Amino acid sequence: MKVGILGCGAIANIITNFAREGKLGVEIKFFYDRDMERAENLASQVDGRVVLDMKDMLNHVDMVIEAASPKSVEEMVPTILKEGKDVMIMSVGGLINPETRLKLEKLAKENKCRIYAPSGAIVGLDGIKAASLGKIQRVTLVTRKPPRSLGITTEKEKILYQGKATEAVKKFPLNINVAATVSMAADQEIEVKIIADPHVDRNMHEVEVVGDFGEFHTTTSNIRCSMNPKTSVLAAYSAIKLLNSLNENFLVGT
Ligand SMILES: NC(=O)c1ccc[n+]([C@@H]2O[C@H](COP(=O)([O-])OP(=O)(O)OC[C@H]3O[C@@H](n4cnc5c(N)ncnc54)[C@H](O)[C@@H]3O)[C@@H](O)[C@H]2O)c1
Repeated sequence: MKVGILGCGAIANIITNFAREGKLGVEIKFFYDRDMERAENLASQVDGRVVLDMKDMLNHVDMVIEAASPKSVEEMVPTILKEGKDVMIMSVGGLINPETRLKLEKLAKENKCRIYAPSGAIVGLDGIKAASLGKIQRVTLVTRKPPRSLGITTEKEKILYQGKATEAVKKFPLNINVAATVSMAADQEIEVKIIADPHVDRNMHEVEVVGDFGEFHTTTSNIRCSMNPKTSVLAAYSAIKLLNSLNENFLVGT
């Protein structure tokens, strides 16, 4: 399977490193970024090709990994799907609006391709998806990050947001991926709290789910990417695991 990358930042760097070390089950050949230097740097690591326009890779790939921004989901993913190419979306915050999601799903259906949204920086989605088959009474997410990861400075713990996930996306478009992924897995609106905490050096997510299956509570304490402290290493790993699973005949815990 040939893959192209849209957005050559922190996540794309980790994925490309795996490819360079021969640990990726797919071939990454095409790179696009609005910052050409970033695309060239990554392409040179795996003997890949830089394209000046994202559309130029579509004739040559089976899948595009979107690792750019929520805006690029709206602006570029429809073009990828119209060409019948699969897409893996990392900026899942761009999918939190149900209208956008339905539009993309319709395009995928019409053009016989698939949209993948990896678990990203959170654990436990398998359990949430299974729980959603019954009735879920409550899903809450508390995200706690160092202030720098949230783009602010503060000496004291500060609640930046408390409310519905769909509203949070307007205020924190780059920090809402986990909320969007959990909402989609639970198939319902979830309650979110975002805290800037100067006492932590990890990006942390606590999820509580209560339903007719019982209840569970998960805590993910994520090491941040050196290239982009807003992003957790686990998010890139989840994309790599999903890519590799496309070639596997034995799947566990999906
Ligand atoms: N699913 C998750 O849990 C999860 C976790 C972390 C990050 N993310 C999301 O994944 C995406 C990538 O994360 P990252 O840390 O690699 O980001 P990054 O900022 O390190 O890199 C993004 C790259 O995309 C490029 N870019 C942005 N918009 C573009 C556009 N419209 N056209 C072309 N290039 C564009 C930028 O120049 C940059 O090089 C972000 O949207 C981020 O919010 C998701």
